[in-house]
Amino acid sequence: MVLSQLSYFSRPSAGTTMSDVEDILRVARERNLESCLTGFLLYRHDCFVQVLEGSREAVSRLFCKISEDPRHRDLTIIGCKQIDRRAFTDWSMGFLSLRDASRQSLLRYSTTSEPELVQLDHDSLVQLTLELAEAPGLQPV
Ligand SMILES: Cc1cc2nc3c(=O)[nH]c(=O)nc-3n(C[C@H](O)[C@H](O)[C@H](O)COP(=O)(O)O)c2cc1C
Repeated sequence: MVLSQLSYFSRPSAGTTMSDVEDILRVARERNLESCLTGFLLYRHDCFVQVLEGSREAVSRLFCKISEDPRHRDLTIIGCKQIDRRAFTDWSMGFLSLRDASRQSLLRYSTTSEPELVQLDHDSLVQLTLELAEAPGLQPV
């Protein structure tokens, strides 16, 4: 089976609330388990960044579905590559809501002094997400 890893950036639609984000996560975790998909979702008031991993077919199918979801807009693919091993093996969909505390981590992976998640390349984004996923108290889900 060819394993793929895809990352994208998007902006929450006007009116998308934290309760919508909780719904997204609940469904994502159920469905991803069924389709052997893993990954991580970062959320900030002005953006989503998600990494999806799984078979090439499952990742493509899910990305098509996600791209039509009205709860976000302006989807931009950051990168997509074939991988030998998953980075988020234990996470059906990890989640972290980003606040200013994450800025220091972001700065380390950014080439500009005003770091923006959308400017990261795919590998840096995966490394940053793995680092954030190790935050104290965060359990794989
Ligand atoms: C930012 C974002 C991330 C999402 N991530 C996932 C995901 O990882 N897995 C998933 O099944 N659905 C995810 N969804 C929800 C899908 O777009 C879709 O609503 C869900 O899979 C249910 O699809 P269906 O009932 O139409 O089959 C996400 C939606 C958004 C807006």
